[in-house]
Amino acid sequence: MIFLLGGSGYIGQAFQRHFIRHGIAHRAIRRAELDYSDPARLLAALRAERPRFLINASGYTGKPNVDACELHRAECLFGNAVLPARIAEACASAGVPWGNLSSGCIYQGAKPDGSGFTELDPPNFSFHNGPCSFYSGTKALGEEILAGYPDVYQWRIRIPFDHLDNPRNYLTKILRYARLLEARNSLTHLVDFVPAALAFASLRPAPGLYNFTNPGAVTTREVAALLAAAGLRREPFRFFVDESDFMREAAVAPRSKCVLDSSKLLSAGISLPPVQEALHTALANWIPAPLPSS
Ligand SMILES: NC(=O)c1ccc[n+]([C@@H]2O[C@H](COP(=O)([O-])OP(=O)(O)OC[C@H]3O[C@@H](n4cnc5c(N)ncnc54)[C@H](OP(=O)(O)O)[C@@H]3O)[C@@H](O)[C@H]2O)c1
Repeated sequence: MIFLLGGSGYIGQAFQRHFIRHGIAHRAIRRAELDYSDPARLLAALRAERPRFLINASGYTGKPNVDACELHRAECLFGNAVLPARIAEACASAGVPWGNLSSGCIYQGAKPDGSGFTELDPPNFSFHNGPCSFYSGTKALGEEILAGYPDVYQWRIRIPFDHLDNPRNYLTKILRYARLLEARNSLTHLVDFVPAALAFASLRPAPGLYNFTNPGAVTTREVAALLAAAGLRREPFRFFVDESDFMREAAVAPRSKCVLDSSKLLSAGISLPPVQEALHTALANWIPAPLPSS
C-alpha cells in the first residue's frame, strides 16, 4: 500500500486518478483527516499501516499563483521546507522510503551552451543565489533540508500539463492568459510523470535529486502554435514585449524560466518521451472542461 499526502491538490489528484484506474492500493491522507505535519501522528499511522512507499504531493503553492507566496511567507516556508522535514523524520523512524515533490523552478535560464541544468548544478534561483521568488526560495531550502535524510527521492517536476482542461494545467493557462511571456522551458507531462514516479517504489534507484521533466525544452510560442494547430484557440495569442513589460503589468515575484537535463532519470532506468511528443499526446487526447451551467 502507498501513502499519498496532499492528494486533494493538483498533482495529488493526478496520482489518485492513476491509483484508481490501475487498482493500486493506496491511502490518500488529507490534513483535515490526519494532521501529517505532526511527525508523531504521521509516524503512528506509518507504523500501524506499514505502507511500502509514501508520496508527498503536499506543499504551499500560492493561489491564484506564486505571487501569493510573497504575502504568505510563513505558510509557504512551513509547507515547502518545514513540512517535508517533518515527513522525513517520520519516514526515517518508520523505515519507509518516500518521494517528495520538488520543483525545477529553483533554476533560471540554461547553461551557457543552451543545455539544461543537472542535479549537480547548484540552484541559481534560490535564497542563496538570487534574486528569486519566495516560493522558489522555499523549494530550494526544502531540498537542502531533505538532503540529510535517508531513502528520500526528490522529484523536480516543472510546469505540469496533461490532456485535462484545468486552470492548473499549463496548456489551459496558455489558452486563457490574456498575454503570454515568451520563454524556453522544460515541462513535465503528468501522464508520464505519475507512473514513472511510482516506478521508483519498485526499481528503487539511488536516493536523491532527480530532474523529472520530459527530455528537451519548448518555447511559449511553440506551445501556442501547437494549441492553435489543434484548433483549441481561434484568436491570435498576444505576448508581453519583454520580461520588464510582464513584471510591470502582470506579476509581483520574478518567475523562473529554465531548461533541465533529465539524463539522470534515464540512467536510473526511467524513460519519458520527448517534450514535443508529450505535448502532441496531450493535445490529441484533449478533454475540454465542461461549460458552466447557466
Ligand atoms: N503545480 C505545479 O505547477 C508544481 C510544479 C512544480 C512542483 N510542484 C510541487 O508539487 C506539490 C503539489 O503541488 P500542487 O500544485 O498539487 O499543489 P496544490 O494544488 O496547492 O495542493 C497542495 C496540497 O498540499 C496540502 N497542503 C499541506 N499543507 C498545505 C498548506 N499550508 N497550504 C495549502 N495546502 C497544503 C493540501 O492537501 P490536504 O489539505 O488535502 O492535505 C493541498 O491540497 C507542491 O510541493 C509543489 O511545490 C507543483
